[in-house]
Amino acid sequence: MTGTAQAGVTQDDSSRVEGMRDMEPKERRDALVAAAALDTSDGDILAGNALPLSIANGMIENVIGNFELPLGVATNFVVNGREHLVPMAVEEPSVVAAASYMAKIARSGGGFTATCTTPIMRAQVQVLGLSDPRGARARILAHRDDLMALANSRDTVLVGLGGGCKDIEVHVFDDTPIGAMVVMHLLVDVRDAMGANTVNTMAELLAPRIEAITGGKVRLRILSNLADRRLVTAGVRVPAEALTTKTLDGAEVARGIVEACALAIVDPYRAATHNKGIMNGIDPVVVATGNDWRAIEAGAHAYAARSGRYTSLTHWEIDASGALVGTLEMPMALGIVGGATRTHPAAQAALRLMRVATASELAEITAAVGLAQNMAALRALATEGIQRGHMTLHARNIAITAGAAGSDIDRVAKAIVAAGDVSVACAKRVLEGT
Ligand code: MEV
Repeated sequence: MTGTAQAGVTQDDSSRVEGMRDMEPKERRDALVAAAALDTSDGDILAGNALPLSIANGMIENVIGNFELPLGVATNFVVNGREHLVPMAVEEPSVVAAASYMAKIARSGGGFTATCTTPIMRAQVQVLGLSDPRGARARILAHRDDLMALANSRDTVLVGLGGGCKDIEVHVFDDTPIGAMVVMHLLVDVRDAMGANTVNTMAELLAPRIEAITGGKVRLRILSNLADRRLVTAGVRVPAEALTTKTLDGAEVARGIVEACALAIVDPYRAATHNKGIMNGIDPVVVATGNDWRAIEAGAHAYAARSGRYTSLTHWEIDASGALVGTLEMPMALGIVGGATRTHPAAQAALRLMRVATASELAEITAAVGLAQNMAALRALATEGIQRGHMTLHARNIAITAGAAGSDIDRVAKAIVAAGDVSVACAKRVLEGT
């Protein structure tokens, strides 16, 4: 942890772990332990092999072992004026480096801002067999207060924390493949939990009462992953000068990023790839913190398609002063209590490393990483293309595939990049000295 705080960054500079790239993994862990004031035991946990088989065996079925991914740490993140080191579990080269680099550029504008809505999750209760769907809707709404009271009767802890069922909605579908149906939504403030278990339990609890009120038959009782009442918005403002490259001035790079985003806004083919790039930043944090990345993916893409046409989750603009302004808005159903976030020791250590105290804070940092990742991809695509940087980082993978180990990995990777031939065949030749 070295370096001086920059203008606009009022806190310490503990997310700037200098020279990280050139360290060995153990040195990196020691540096992180110092930077985030962790216990040394957290360094050991983050090294891997942290999930005892006995715990894994209780988490899913038919356990035979654990599956590992590389765990990296993105540096330089300032979110809402606070420094954060960000653990990322991911197999794709260049993701961690790109996030760290964009976070470094973003520091010149004060870093990222982010904000969350109240953590409201939805559960759906599907009611069938109704000849008067609108009448049924009115009857359910007339029982709003007692339905909410019943939903909250089982989770006094959540209610005590200020959470619980806060409202209901009733949607009518006149025309489905099996005729009309009514769908009641429970809107539940789940506080620091991801909330799936909470809302599913409430939906199941209410089902018999809904049948009695409507005279219909309840079929599904399950959360919706389109968590459109649990949104996070992240923003960044980057002075154009900070985007200058060896060959392009910053204003041109900013314009290129805006132009690249424009295609994702209008074209689902590009939006899918653009949003995948955002998820390159988000999923690794979700995985590292033991959260449900399928839920985050489902919510992100459903939200991106909410208008009926799949579109970009981010927007990039140029403000009156010429600075590049990026925003990301999407559902972010992350928890810091319950599930693997609690049972997996590495997920717990990851949360300590990030210094998050609430699920909202975790969501805000995660969104900032997604925005940084998108900025990195668009910056590369709008300038030199992604392949040069990507292949340089990918070269280490190629070297390993060719059989390199230990210090040979870097030697072979550098040699194949220098030769302009990032291929296994070339790596084998370098390794064999031919
Ligand atoms: C690759 O994993 C992600 C990108 O394709 C994202 C994008 O095109 O915006 C580079």
